Amino acid sequence: MSETSRDAPYPELKKTHTMTRVGRPFTDFKPPAAAPVWAVIEGLGRYHVLLAALELGVFEALDEAPDAGMTADELAGRLDIPALHLESLLDSVVALGLLDRVVDHFKLNDAARRYLLVDGAASMAGLIPVAPGPHENWTRLAGTVRSGRPATPIDDDPAAFYVPLVEGTFTTMWRCATRADFKMRYSALAAPRILDLGAGGAPWSIAMLQSCDDGRATVNDLDGVIDVARRKTAEHGVADRCEFRPGDFHTIPIEDGAYDIVVLGHVCRTEGPDGAQHLVERAYAALRPEGRVVLADYFIGPNHKTNPHAVLMGMTMMASTVNGFGVTTDAASAWLRDAGFEAIRLIEPIGFQFAYVASKPRD
Ligand SMILES: C[S@@+](CC[C@H](N)C(=O)[O-])C[C@H]1O[C@@H](n2cnc3c(N)ncnc32)[C@H](O)[C@@H]1O
Repeated sequence: MSETSRDAPYPELKKTHTMTRVGRPFTDFKPPAAAPVWAVIEGLGRYHVLLAALELGVFEALDEAPDAGMTADELAGRLDIPALHLESLLDSVVALGLLDRVVDHFKLNDAARRYLLVDGAASMAGLIPVAPGPHENWTRLAGTVRSGRPATPIDDDPAAFYVPLVEGTFTTMWRCATRADFKMRYSALAAPRILDLGAGGAPWSIAMLQSCDDGRATVNDLDGVIDVARRKTAEHGVADRCEFRPGDFHTIPIEDGAYDIVVLGHVCRTEGPDGAQHLVERAYAALRPEGRVVLADYFIGPNHKTNPHAVLMGMTMMASTVNGFGVTTDAASAWLRDAGFEAIRLIEPIGFQFAYVASKPRD
């Protein structure tokens, strides 16, 4: 090994490795940090720390002492578990930034209160266990890449996966759908007809019907999942203005030219390019002239590094569905353009929630 290629503990201190001595191009001898590798290794542990804290009811219990907080001993007594193990878990949650520790008292911080309490303002408590898809599919990822198909795709039993998922995502999606009004003014429509394909808990239909007293919605989802939409629309007082149409959104009957708004909310990324294109074409056919489609998803931009959340969401789809992949902005806008839509724009009703809104041309 030559003198210059040998690794050294502090190679950046080598006085011999300077531009004056080695000329251009100059390569810094300082080795890159191992932090990104450690971040990946710890990813599994981080996720399970949070899962365990949720499963043990740590956040709800700490909410009973919002000001003073609790010591590990007090909380252990309250939860009836060993204090030493609990303290280790709590310190790890503190390390994740999702609890505060003040001397020996643990307290909820703002993030925990908002996202981790079951009744938090933007609760993700129900979503966290199900968001990555079936956990065992991650341990078989290399096999999925090799064979081109997950061993146990959620397509085999969609209701088992989607019922808890759409219950878990409802709060966020409903918040997104209500705020979308500021960007697309659906509340200004007179007696709109809405078609919500793969509606889940129907957050978009509910938001739109709550803003339009004389609106009506056709709400679609698979058998077994559509009961969540029935329940949520009833809870929000709009069920009497919904027609529930269970079945596969690729094949259910849909009236031509009948709707003012068609919602494709986070349904395209499980369908693959052909399936997604087909849904966009169905939306186009269902709309009246000047009607609008809403296509919400996590879109991967031209530079794959700028939205890692969308890239990893695409990987989650690949790990657990037969046809799913990430949706790029290029692909989504091309599906819309090719179907005939115009005035295509991308809105971000709330942070990190994006949707394309596009219009069917006037006749
Ligand atoms: C990620 S969830 C999105 C739910 C909702 N649209 C939202 O934005 O919150 C995807 C939904 O599509 C539904 N879905 C998946 N495949 C479907 C199909 N072939 N036909 C109808 N619905 C389907 C699932 O049951 C699930 O409710």
